[in-house]
Formats: sequence, structure tokens, C-alpha cells
Amino acid sequence: MFLSIDKAAEILKKGGIVAIPTETVYGLAGNAFNETAIAKIFAAKGRPYFDPLIVHIAEFSKFEDLVTEIPENAKLLAEKFWPGPLTLVLPKKEKVSNLITGGLSTVAVRMPKKQIARDIIKLAGPLAAPSANMFQRLSPTSVEHVVEQLGGKIDGIVDGGACEVGIESTVVGFENNMPVIYRPGAVTGEMIVECLGVGSWGVGSSKLSSPGLLKKHYCPSTPFFIGLPSEVPKNCGLLAFGELPVKSGEFAEVLNLSEKACSTEAAANLYGMLHKLDSCKLDKFFATLLPPAGLGNAINDRLIKASCR
Ligand code: TXA
Ligand code: MG
Repeated sequence: MFLSIDKAAEILKKGGIVAIPTETVYGLAGNAFNETAIAKIFAAKGRPYFDPLIVHIAEFSKFEDLVTEIPENAKLLAEKFWPGPLTLVLPKKEKVSNLITGGLSTVAVRMPKKQIARDIIKLAGPLAAPSANMFQRLSPTSVEHVVEQLGGKIDGIVDGGACEVGIESTVVGFENNMPVIYRPGAVTGEMIVECLGVGSWGVGSSKLSSPGLLKKHYCPSTPFFIGLPSEVPKNCGLLAFGELPVKSGEFAEVLNLSEKACSTEAAANLYGMLHKLDSCKLDKFFATLLPPAGLGNAINDRLIKASCR
């Protein structure tokens, strides 16, 4: 089940699918130019074909190979934030499979930072890789999370320890040359406008320009709610941030995303703590939102989607 980098690359080159670590979350990778491998990814995840995948690269020249044209603003963002937790959406070249893009004319591309991911991509890439979880379930930030959801359904896993960022990449496209955020992440809107010297950024509209906008996503199995209950029910949990609320003692289980109220630390802990609370056999659990700035927006986005039933 656990593979070396070389063995993983060998399996990928033959059309197999392997879970690999990145700095954001674990991805379920397959060779981007092998349609059988891509179909296996959708099947293993139970993911509908309309939800497109991200193609992962390790060199900028591969970006030019996948998209028809790279506008100046995309170049600036890639220069500043690659390798890293940023995905750029641009019009695709013919050779990029419609299976990857869900029939869209654009393709999402990311250059991850984690060295293991880069090594595997160099040997066997470009790699199409969604997060290595079942469709609409919690994203994996450790090998244990991957084994729990996909063990037995895939050709192996490369163990890279915990994911440092802990939350999926920011997905950015362009409309009339202006940046549009389809999914918030560690590269924040504020960082993007500063890099481009533009006044503001757009937010992907509900016309499903990106299925990352699907309301329900990233879900634990235990009923999960945003906000604090006026009366704390029996056997329920709390996912807190910063100073604990007065009533925290009444919860059966309390986890704190960051005692010192640091949103970077909270992002790194987010999925691990959601997985943990989900495994505690609680009747339900609650979370408080973070202050809505910077990375807080991305974390709140995942919390709200995880609470949609
Ligand atoms: O950090 C990440 O992005 C991780 C790691 C493994 O790289 N990957 C990841 O993949 O989160 P996935 O498949 O779980 O999410 C991909 C997101 C979805 O929200 C999808 O809708 C969006 O990217 N996406 C993919 N192709 C797109 C396109 N052509 N236009 C707009 N959004 C797209
Ligand atoms: Mg995902």
C-alpha cells in the first residue's frame, strides 16, 4: 500500500492511480494524458464527471503546454505564488482531455511546493489530482485519512506526513482580465490584488463556473452546525478558535483550531480536527466561524460547506 517515490512513478506511468502528499491536502493522482487513469480517479472517488480535476505540474514550461495562452496577470500570479497553493484556470489546449475539465473549455493547473509531489510529477507528470477523499467528504491531510476513505480502492499511497498548509489551493480564473476567485485558499484575495496592482477581485458566481462552488462539500458524517447552541445538548462536540466560549465545559469534546487565534495554524489543523470530531461518536458538533479576513475566509468557506446537509 505504501510506496516509494520511484515505485509510485512507475505505477503512474502505467496508468495506475496513487495518493500523493502535497502541501495543501493529499491528492489522488493519475497521468493527465491517460484517460483510463482519469476515469479510475472518478470511479474511486465516486465523483461525478461534471466536477473537473486540477492538473499538477513541476515546471512552468508544462503550463505553456496545457493552455492556449498565458495572460500577463496569470504570469504575475504564477511567478509570485508558484510553487504553492494556487491553481490557475485558463483556456485549455485541444490535447487536454475533456474528462479532466468536465467538458469545460478551460483547465485548472497548479504547481505544488511539497518536494515529494514535485519529485513524483517530474518523473511521471503532469498529474491530474483531485483531493484524495470520497466525493463530498472531508479532505485528507494525513495518510490515515486517505486509508480510511480510499484504502483498497487505489494502487497505493506515498506517505509524506502531515500537509503543512492543510486547506485546498486557491482556484483563480480571469474574467475580462480581472482575477476571479472560484475557491478561496491560502493565497488570499488581498494577496492577489496586491500582486496584480488591481483594485479588487471577483468571486465565482453561482452559475457553477467552478464546482468548488457546490454548496455541499467537505462533509463529516456526524451532523455539524455553525454557531453555538443556546443550550448545549448531551454528547456533542465543539470546534473552537482562539479563546474558548464560556459554555465550553458543557461539551463532551472540545478541539481548538488555534488557541492563539492564528488562522495559519487553524488551516493546518482544520481537516485533522474535523476528522477527529467525526470519529468521536458524538450526536452532533458545532463550530464558531473565524474573523472573515485573509485565510479566515477560506476556513469559513470550508466550515460552512461542511455544515450543509
Ligand atoms: O490543493 C488542491 O487544490 C488539491 C491538491 C491535491 O492539489 N486538489 C484539490 O482538487 O483540491 P479538487 O478536485 O478537490 O478540487 C478542484 C477544484 C474544484 O473546486 C473544481 O471545481 C475546480 O478546482 N476546478 C477544476 N477545473 C476547473 C475549471 N476548469 N474551471 C473552474 N474550476 C475548476
Ligand atoms: Mg476536493
